[in-house]
Amino acid sequence: MKKLEQLYEGKAKKVYSTEDPNVVIVSYKDDATAFDGLKKGTITGKGAINNQMTNFLMQQLEKVGVPTHYVQELSDRDTAVKKVSIIPLEVIIRNVSAGSFAKRFGVEEGIVFDAPTIEFSYKNDDLHDPLMNAYHAVALKLATWDEIDTIKKYAFAVNDFLKKTLLECGVTLVDFKLEFGKTADNTIVLADEISPDTCRFWDSKTGEKLDKDRFRRDLGNVEGAYQEMSRRLLGK
Ligand code: TMP
Repeated sequence: MKKLEQLYEGKAKKVYSTEDPNVVIVSYKDDATAFDGLKKGTITGKGAINNQMTNFLMQQLEKVGVPTHYVQELSDRDTAVKKVSIIPLEVIIRNVSAGSFAKRFGVEEGIVFDAPTIEFSYKNDDLHDPLMNAYHAVALKLATWDEIDTIKKYAFAVNDFLKKTLLECGVTLVDFKLEFGKTADNTIVLADEISPDTCRFWDSKTGEKLDKDRFRRDLGNVEGAYQEMSRRLLGK
């Protein structure tokens, strides 16, 4: 499968058309941004790690009943995926307090919740991805109630699978962000990526951060954290 023309360039990925109108190729970049693109940098090797980690996880998720956009890994950085229209909702699941949750509610990071939480943000950089509830999403016709129910069900299923898989690698899944898309026949599938860019991973024993917070917060050894997650999860 070959790239025809570039359709879109996002902050971390490019998207290309292919001969198949229902398939596009995503190409993962080493570019990193934070704070709606205000902070920019490069994390060498990130594109390949995020691509391979996402594909590994999406293939496993398919087996536990979560449909995804994954079609075929083409190279280190390139993957064929189903063409979808992205639902402009960032779906965030949290198991432990951190980041904007800790800030918004004035609590410390590291409080382990009895049950996971779910929240939505409106995916819109100009508005800084404002927090949104399901009623807002339905009012704005971003999704129907049935679609919201499906998205919630899949998001919690991803959490159950990912939490367990990471625990076996000595990693606590603190929180993560998912995006969903609709295929040509209106099926909802998991899209985008599942990687250290979009999740918080803490070493279960030491609490060391093994994700993009090292870049966001200038903690150093950013590349090392991505490589460590690749070693633990993919064995390479
Ligand atoms: P938050 O605590 O900043 O709201 O982040 C929650 C989770 O979402 C965290 O795992 C990082 C991820 N995330 C993204 O993937 N993209 C984003 O733009 C932001 C702000 C967070």
